[in-house]
Amino acid sequence: MPIISTAGLARTFDTKAGPVQAVRSVDLTVAAGEIIGMLGPNGAGKTTTLRMLTTLLAPTGGAATVAGHDLVADPAGVRENCGYVAQSGGVDPHITVREELVTQGRMYRLGKAAAVARTAELAGELGLSELLDRRTASLSGGQRRRLDIAMGLTHRPPLLFLDEPTTGLDPGSRADLWNLVRRLRDEYGTTVVLTTHYLDEADALADRLVVIDGGLVVAQGTPTALKTRHTGSPAASLQEAFLAITGRAPAADTAPVAV
Ligand SMILES: Nc1ncnc2c1ncn2[C@@H]1O[C@H](COP(=O)(O)OP(=O)(O)OP(=O)(O)O)[C@@H](O)[C@H]1O
Ligand SMILES: [Mg+2]
Repeated sequence: MPIISTAGLARTFDTKAGPVQAVRSVDLTVAAGEIIGMLGPNGAGKTTTLRMLTTLLAPTGGAATVAGHDLVADPAGVRENCGYVAQSGGVDPHITVREELVTQGRMYRLGKAAAVARTAELAGELGLSELLDRRTASLSGGQRRRLDIAMGLTHRPPLLFLDEPTTGLDPGSRADLWNLVRRLRDEYGTTVVLTTHYLDEADALADRLVVIDGGLVVAQGTPTALKTRHTGSPAASLQEAFLAITGRAPAADTAPVAV
């Protein structure tokens, strides 16, 4: 059974200027243990899709099952099974890394001792052990991103959604994050759905890509399949395939960085 299955998932926002169809209709099937790269130009509907799949935002159309739970009928069941790291982290700058992680554990109803133990475990896994007593305001961009991800993993979810996890990271921190995503999948069987504007990253990391544009899935498949289908050559770059699919280059400030 797929871990994510959506049919015609849609979200329209009512604004003063009229309705905005952020997500028109998304049909998506994700198998357990897959690493999915979600691509698409700014405003395509990626974040809105992730917010619906994590129950932070109610759909205005369609249906979805996430980790065996219906999105609308059983949002608590969905939330228990997924971690979500938002596009811009929501970390309180005044408290320490340790306090942030323990609080998150308590929010997931861990007892005090269990929350402290889980904090040590996550800090070890994400290279945060040396930083536990630092205020979150003093962290670098990459350290902060690792903390965001640790928080998303607190309750050991089988499914992890990462919205632009590597934006703003230096090449070394990006490579660390790729390794972490691979390790989560290989060691724990975690399914990871991540969005990115870095096409080299999507190419290297994702088993399958889903391209969203104008609130619709406009292409999906393995990186090689997309290149072959949309440029005629498996040796083409993903950049060329993306251009052929969307008619646009990826955002200019996210040109590939060598890693
Ligand atoms: N709360 C909201 N109210 C009105 N419009 C919204 C709201 N949230 C998103 N939108 C609109 O929905 C569309 C999709 O936005 P979304 O954030 O899902 O795009 P995205 O693919 O994540 O883009 P980016 O790559 O820039 O992060 C955009 O036109 C956006 O302005
Ligand atoms: Mg977004």
